[in-house]
Amino acid sequence: MLLRQMSNFIASSEAQYEDLYKQSTEDPKKFWSDFAEQEFVWHKQWDNLLDYKLSSDANDLGVKWFEGAKLNITENCIDRHLAAKGEQTAIIFEANDPKEEALHITYSELAKNVNKTANMLKANGAKKGDRICLYMPMTPELAYAVLACARIGAVHSVVFAGFSAKSLSDRVMDSKCNLVLTADGGYRGNKITSLKEITDEALMSCDCVEKVIVLNRTNSKIAMEYGRDVWWQEEFAKASDVCPAEIMDAEDMLFILYTSGSTGKPKGMVHTCGGYMVYVNYSFRNVFQYEEGDIYWCTADIGWITGHSYIVYGPLSAGATTLMFEGVPSYPDMGRFWEVVEKHKVNIFYTAPTAIRSLATCDMRLVTKHDLSSLKTLGTVGEPINLEAWEWYDEHIGKKNCPIVDTWWQTETGGIMITSLAGVTKDIPTYATLPLPGIQPCLMDESGNEITSAEGEGRLCIKYPWPSMARTIYGDHQRYADTYFSSFAGKYFTGDGAKRNAEGNYRITGRVDDIVIVSGHNLGTAEIENIINEHELVAESAVVGYPHDVKGNSIYAFVTLKGTSESGAVTREIRELVAKTLGPICKPEKIQITTGLPKTRSGKIMRRILRKIAAGDFENLGDISTLLNPECVEEVIKGRV
Ligand code: PRX
Repeated sequence: MLLRQMSNFIASSEAQYEDLYKQSTEDPKKFWSDFAEQEFVWHKQWDNLLDYKLSSDANDLGVKWFEGAKLNITENCIDRHLAAKGEQTAIIFEANDPKEEALHITYSELAKNVNKTANMLKANGAKKGDRICLYMPMTPELAYAVLACARIGAVHSVVFAGFSAKSLSDRVMDSKCNLVLTADGGYRGNKITSLKEITDEALMSCDCVEKVIVLNRTNSKIAMEYGRDVWWQEEFAKASDVCPAEIMDAEDMLFILYTSGSTGKPKGMVHTCGGYMVYVNYSFRNVFQYEEGDIYWCTADIGWITGHSYIVYGPLSAGATTLMFEGVPSYPDMGRFWEVVEKHKVNIFYTAPTAIRSLATCDMRLVTKHDLSSLKTLGTVGEPINLEAWEWYDEHIGKKNCPIVDTWWQTETGGIMITSLAGVTKDIPTYATLPLPGIQPCLMDESGNEITSAEGEGRLCIKYPWPSMARTIYGDHQRYADTYFSSFAGKYFTGDGAKRNAEGNYRITGRVDDIVIVSGHNLGTAEIENIINEHELVAESAVVGYPHDVKGNSIYAFVTLKGTSESGAVTREIRELVAKTLGPICKPEKIQITTGLPKTRSGKIMRRILRKIAAGDFENLGDISTLLNPECVEEVIKGRV
């Protein structure tokens, strides 16, 4: 077992970045093999570093990294740090309520708590290979639970605690979870989310769940179902703090995480143990240039991929101190983030453009009253950052003294793909900039040819596999093939459009499919349409995104009704229906009732035209004469809300 602290795979200068990039493309297998061998604890070496075929034929499509290797990711995130860093803080927990004392959980405490949680899961029937759903608030127990699943070889499926009962039950059923971990409630600002009540409602339609373990977080009055529900604290107290790690194959499933798709059904992206571990560690250290002793804070929720990779696995595998925040940026006031930065002397701060935009509109005293001098690196993730927000972040938070890494990646990619490396390669406002060594992006034109000129604009694809790419969609390998590998032969298609400048820097222009990024959240328009169409008065609907100052994009729904033009009550009911069924983040901001939707002659709704109308761009609608019903375009324009 080899374990080295310093690494020649972490670029510390522009020249080294270039050199690593060159090595990684000239001999990718050697590059990853050397890094993986040097930096992790393996129980057995791989027999075959990489086996892959990127094909649109599901029977032929597959990617395997480190095949034959044996490991447990938690030994790399916890055990191996104990000798040197047992007393170092692994997780700082900052609660929703600023008056609640922060916790500093050391690596030794983390080890005990994860082991106890793992034994608690086992005592409640969990075993290797089981899928376990985590529907929890952002407390340390969520991190323990994620790691405890990994410890025993169970597959975690974390569902963001803002999702509705229907979204939860769909996800539990899709991956047939037998255990659900939740809490009585979750604090979010001045509200309590009734997590247990929502879980109970969700589980009415799930026959696969045998046990529910309930954390008491808010002392809320809840119902416990006899024989099914047990209290976390009671089970935890009984469990031993020793739990040997299950030895996993590199290609065994580590987790499933659902993301919106362009059909109504969410996609359960599958990530595996070895490749995911290697890449999140590698990208965390390269991008943020983490140094011993730094306090690192990613404001995401563990319910999203950002939380998985860059609150839990990336930082902990690097032996870092990672801050977990339970609350929201606006509670008790809009200065909360900056208060937390000052309080914990945060050095590296990673957040979403939507948060920056909303905080930038607030009274500047909420920023200036806090000492932000500990900050040395800033980051953004989740959506393109506009110039104004970038400049505000740079000037008021970074005091023009901190590099800003604009990190482009996806649930599917597992880790950061295109970004500057803090203080090492140049950041350029609104550009994600350059691929990490090991990542080979390209731009494709509409006819499927690669754009080979230095400058260009097209669809963003990745030409060569990387260790943390999702291996499949749970239970639907064909859909995985169709979604990612059928648009451009032999390449992974990201669903994003991008521009490249003469120096090879990428600027992401946004989704080119039926996914809309609202406040950094990935929403499938088809899923929202399906719910709107359930309203008894709705004949059909088309949902598109339109630009929004704070949220980046917002949802615009065009709705035709069954023989009535009534709009007041219906629009309210549609909003309520969507919020209740899918969660408040999916609620359409604008709803336009119209008598017709533009369609092709084959009856397909022309969302491209509706997208332009929603954005107020009536000039470039293209040729509408070939539509089935060109006359409706004018009516839709006139009725724009
Ligand atoms: O459109 C891109 C956008 O977010 C999508 C991925 O969303 P999700 O799977 O939820 O993961 C979000 C966190 C990694 C991408 O296809 N996106 C993400 N980061 C950026 C971005 N768009 C522009 N710039 C970014 N830095």
